[in-house]
Amino acid sequence: MERRSSCLNNFLLPIFFLLLTVAAAYDENNDTIIPAIFTFGDSSVDVGNNNHLKSAMFKADYFPYGKDLLLVDHIHPTGRFSNGMLTTDFGAEGLGFKHAQHGYLSSSFRVVGENSFITGANFASAGSGYYDGTSMRYNAIPLSKQLELFKAYKSKLFGVTGEKKGEDMLSKSVFIVSTGNGDYVQNYYLNRSLRKRYNIEKYSTFIVGLLADILEKLHGDGARKIAVTTLPPMGCLPAAINVHGNGNRKRCVARLNKDAQTHNRKMEKMVNEKRAKHRDLKIAILNTYDAILDLVNNATQHGFKESRRGCCATGGGGTTVLCKPNTELLCRNVSEYVFFDGVHPTHLANKFISEAVMLDGLTLLP
Ligand SMILES: *[C@@H]1O[C@H](CO)[C@@H](O)[C@H](O)[C@H]1NC(C)=O
Ligand SMILES: *[C@@H]1O[C@H](CO)[C@@H](O)[C@H](O)[C@H]1NC(C)=O
Ligand SMILES: *[C@@H]1O[C@H](CO)[C@@H](O)[C@H](O)[C@H]1NC(C)=O
Ligand SMILES: *[C@@H]1O[C@H](CO)[C@@H](O)[C@H](O)[C@H]1NC(C)=O
Repeated sequence: MERRSSCLNNFLLPIFFLLLTVAAAYDENNDTIIPAIFTFGDSSVDVGNNNHLKSAMFKADYFPYGKDLLLVDHIHPTGRFSNGMLTTDFGAEGLGFKHAQHGYLSSSFRVVGENSFITGANFASAGSGYYDGTSMRYNAIPLSKQLELFKAYKSKLFGVTGEKKGEDMLSKSVFIVSTGNGDYVQNYYLNRSLRKRYNIEKYSTFIVGLLADILEKLHGDGARKIAVTTLPPMGCLPAAINVHGNGNRKRCVARLNKDAQTHNRKMEKMVNEKRAKHRDLKIAILNTYDAILDLVNNATQHGFKESRRGCCATGGGGTTVLCKPNTELLCRNVSEYVFFDGVHPTHLANKFISEAVMLDGLTLLP
């Protein structure tokens, strides 16, 4: 009998302390403007989920990725596709979080209820797009699956907070969706049969329709503040200039930028429809297109010297866009560069982009 009750105590005590920690963590988060951030998308926001996928084609788990990353509780490389922090890392810091939300597949999420769990999660996976066909091509976690993982997170969260408090917390949290570039640059432009099936008008309508479904699903799951990024000026990415620009490094590929603008226009129209439909839903469009184009065209004005080629030599991991894992193939001074590899901005460029879109995001704050 005595043995049994002490056994029970051993079992209950940790749960009791866990609940106390959760309560404390939640109160502590009253310091931050919002309780949590949930991030979905591709390599622009992946903080290391792909490290845990055996067959993912895009991984940034080797030097020189993360070479300038100074996050205290991380050893670099973390899986971030840059030499340092991502735009979302700067964003999380700006909102008062000690550090960015962890990747859902990282070991941090085995400890349900700790502060790092309760302040949100990152479900992003490099190589994914709105279209599951894009994600499958690169063995990434499709966005549809990222939303399922969020549902799993949500039920664990409600297990510790209770439903009412949990729902309240989700309604105050920010949900970031940052993807789409891969649907074009890593899929449409590379797949003749896809281009035969859809011209660019039809394809962009299709892709924006997928985002519309995601907004509905997130709203159904309790999200009330969603931030979506525009497509970047795809024709200015060094990898795109390589493949589609006839080697002319002086300018961006106009056709690709035009396609990005077509997508962005349709996205804005769709978002306006959703705003009208759901009065309780705030949606911010983070205009990364303008921010990156400004960086590329006005590089010197913003303290950079090179915006047409990446800092590292590409060809790593069997791809044409990732860095090769060699020191001697790295640029001398990464601070002069806008892009680190064939598509991903450097730490300093990400800082600039994050500050440039801050105003767009402010509409989500209380
Ligand atoms: C956060 O602070 C507000 C006002 O101080 C309080 O009403 C609310 O209960 C707090 N939230 C939590 C989850 O404790
Ligand atoms: C190209 O697109 C078609 C659909 O039109 C798809 O069935 C096929 O798997 C794609 N190819 C690759 C390599 O992804
Ligand atoms: C470059 O800078 C000029 C002057 O500040 C500005 O008018 C222009 O819009 C910028 N270009 C881009 C692409 O943002
Ligand atoms: C690297 O480039 C930055 C930006 O142009 C400059 O401020 C810095 O002095 C350079 N560092 C070295 C070691 O050349």
